[in-house]
Amino acid sequence: MLVLGIETSCDETGLALVEDGRKILGAQLATSLKEHQRYGGVVPEIASRAHVEVMTAELENLLRDAGITPSQIDRIAVTHGPGLPGSLVIGVAAAKALALVWKKPLVAVNHLHAHLYAALMPEMPWSVEDPMVGLVISGGHTAIVRADGIRAFHLMGQTRDDAVGEAFDKVAKLMGLGFPGGPEIQRVGQAGNPKAFRFLPPKIKTGSPYDFSLSGVKTAVLYKVRDHQKMNPGPLDASFTSDMAASFQESVVEEVVQKTVLACAETGIGRMAVGGGVVANRRLRDRLAEVCREQKIALAVPPLNLCTDNGTMVAGLGCYLPPLSSVELNSIPDLRVEGERK
Ligand code: KG4
Ligand code: ZN
Repeated sequence: MLVLGIETSCDETGLALVEDGRKILGAQLATSLKEHQRYGGVVPEIASRAHVEVMTAELENLLRDAGITPSQIDRIAVTHGPGLPGSLVIGVAAAKALALVWKKPLVAVNHLHAHLYAALMPEMPWSVEDPMVGLVISGGHTAIVRADGIRAFHLMGQTRDDAVGEAFDKVAKLMGLGFPGGPEIQRVGQAGNPKAFRFLPPKIKTGSPYDFSLSGVKTAVLYKVRDHQKMNPGPLDASFTSDMAASFQESVVEEVVQKTVLACAETGIGRMAVGGGVVANRRLRDRLAEVCREQKIALAVPPLNLCTDNGTMVAGLGCYLPPLSSVELNSIPDLRVEGERK
């Protein structure tokens, strides 16, 4: 089955053609990241406009480069949430228009599920029906889920304040590093001592033990930066910045890894899939591999190009989901990991 996947939930316009859920026949990706950099974060208005500007050319390039004609496409899968309202609507409108004109079935894809499917896609280490624990960490989302196959997801824990990627972005900003902050923290932290500063994990006293709270560590970094600046006026020195970046990264990575491993232990599920932009983090990938090996948990991690937003994961997952009965599809910016609010 050949699926055209469309992803426009944030600042990436991703289109891809995937056969039978795994074979990538072509992929196009544009990002408006550069236009957002001077604002220190994604500006929704700019992101939506950029989707409109590149969509048609991307589609033409995709079909031409893959040597595929619309008649060969079996269905169109599109991210319908969660994401930025003005961005989602562009992808959904494009998918509906193509489905109508080409007379193809339409499939609605939850962006968070697609991030987890990206981990399974290259190797398919277990069946799409098998239960697994999932960790989604990106700029906008932080969730630990129990998945009964790739169609039924149950939320186990989520962030109570900042998403993991958002915390990287904010901490980078307060240390004067660029946007997006995750890659910057990783780069600067390479030379640093991860034990230079110690950040205690927050105590989650009520609700789910799998919930996260990242505002405490962010504020702790802020105070340490301020104290340092009082003693050493002027720009932050390189060794302080790299020690702080390494220590912050270490504390967040450890928190995320330990909670997800605990979720595997408590559910008795020995399979873990991870996804989202933050999974591009080298230290996180190494620690996940190490801990999962020790705990005998099978681990699925997406290749770097499928961690951040892309159309390939949408086209891949779209192969397994039921098509809609009509082109009546709306974007749902606050779509939850369990699906639509009934
Ligand atoms: O999945 P994504 O591309 O977009 C959202 O759906 O949000 O994730 C973007 C996030 C940003 O917050 C960025 O700082 C973070 O992923 N990120 C990283 C790394 N690369 C990207 N965080 C930590 N380390 C990285 N290497
Ligand atoms: Zn994403």
